[in-house]
Amino acid sequence: MDARRTRLPEGFSWGTSTSAYQIEGGGDNTDWWRFERTPGTAAVELCGDACDSWHRYEEDLDLITRLGLDSFRLSIEWARIEPTRGNFSREAIEHYRDVLNACHSRQIKAVVTLHHFTLPLWVADAGGFENPETVAWIAQYARVVATELGALIDVACTINEPNIVALMGYLTAMFPPQVRSWERFVAVNRIMRDCHRAMREALRSVVPDLPVGLPLSMQEYEAQPGGEGLVESLRREMEDEYLQVVADDDYLGVQCYTKLIIGPDGLVERPEGELTEMGYLFWPQSVEYTVRRAAQFIDIPIIVTENGIGTNDDQQRIRYLEQALQGLRRTIDDGIDVRGYFQWSLLDNFEWSLGYAPKFGIVAVDRTTFARTPKASAQWFAEAARAFDVAR
Ligand code: BGC
Repeated sequence: MDARRTRLPEGFSWGTSTSAYQIEGGGDNTDWWRFERTPGTAAVELCGDACDSWHRYEEDLDLITRLGLDSFRLSIEWARIEPTRGNFSREAIEHYRDVLNACHSRQIKAVVTLHHFTLPLWVADAGGFENPETVAWIAQYARVVATELGALIDVACTINEPNIVALMGYLTAMFPPQVRSWERFVAVNRIMRDCHRAMREALRSVVPDLPVGLPLSMQEYEAQPGGEGLVESLRREMEDEYLQVVADDDYLGVQCYTKLIIGPDGLVERPEGELTEMGYLFWPQSVEYTVRRAAQFIDIPIIVTENGIGTNDDQQRIRYLEQALQGLRRTIDDGIDVRGYFQWSLLDNFEWSLGYAPKFGIVAVDRTTFARTPKASAQWFAEAARAFDVAR
């Protein structure tokens, strides 16, 4: 790491990100669980018990503590909290209360996402994010979460990457409900923005000083000849329209992984250059690029709520993180108001349609025993975070 030090804003968060479905296991009341069991979908394997974090969350938090990180981003599963319409599960609420209390007893800041890709079956069956009624339903769920758990949440994220839910669910058909339609993709993005606004109001109406933001997937795009028009339309739908609605948020969550190359026929798969296991371009420059791009649109603080690499080669991960953090440092040195960095992900976990093959974790998880083993990158990241900051 660069030996030079950067003065970070007070309260800068260093953490790792996770999501409920990808680590908890047993998400059987969701559209994803059903998708994995539907013949002919893009899903290559079942999520099953995931990392069993529903039972092992204390172990996960102990890992965070041992690494000396101060924050943890987790999500709450709507399908568990409200398993059927209007019926809220006391057991699930108390479980998440225990998780959040376990964060606080370790002095770990809890950054909590209310929706991370999965829908309760009753919402999916009613049309999911294509049904305008979902706006009121998700706002009601947010109100219940705020009432029950708001005092234990340090930072709230409404919907994780709503633009990816729209893209993968309604344009590329990699996620449920596996649709390919530009019109439906645009319509879902519109409802997503309404959901975000409604959730923000719901959360604030219960806990006025709770910082609320939207974790948006942002990428660097490169157009090959003939791909310029598509890049423009994608940027507008995927980023710019969202960057308008977050102006009244408390922060923007930037989530970035790579650079997308777009040709006349769409995304260029396996482009030239160093590739990760996902077939993505190795592109740690994405942090600096997306943070700078976001800062041109908005006047609120930024938190990098996800960044990382899916690879079996932990040295490649360290190289990625090192270059990503160098880019982060340049944005802060230039005066951009960045308040945190969350590596994706703490654990090797369920990578949606691609199953368990991609390894995003700084901690390996044995698929039989669920034993957690920190990789060299975990130690590297912890030390890099410590060395970054002159203020502590
Ligand atoms: C998502 C995560 C996912 C990660 C790596 C992000 O788009 O929020 O759930 O695992 O990227 O693909």
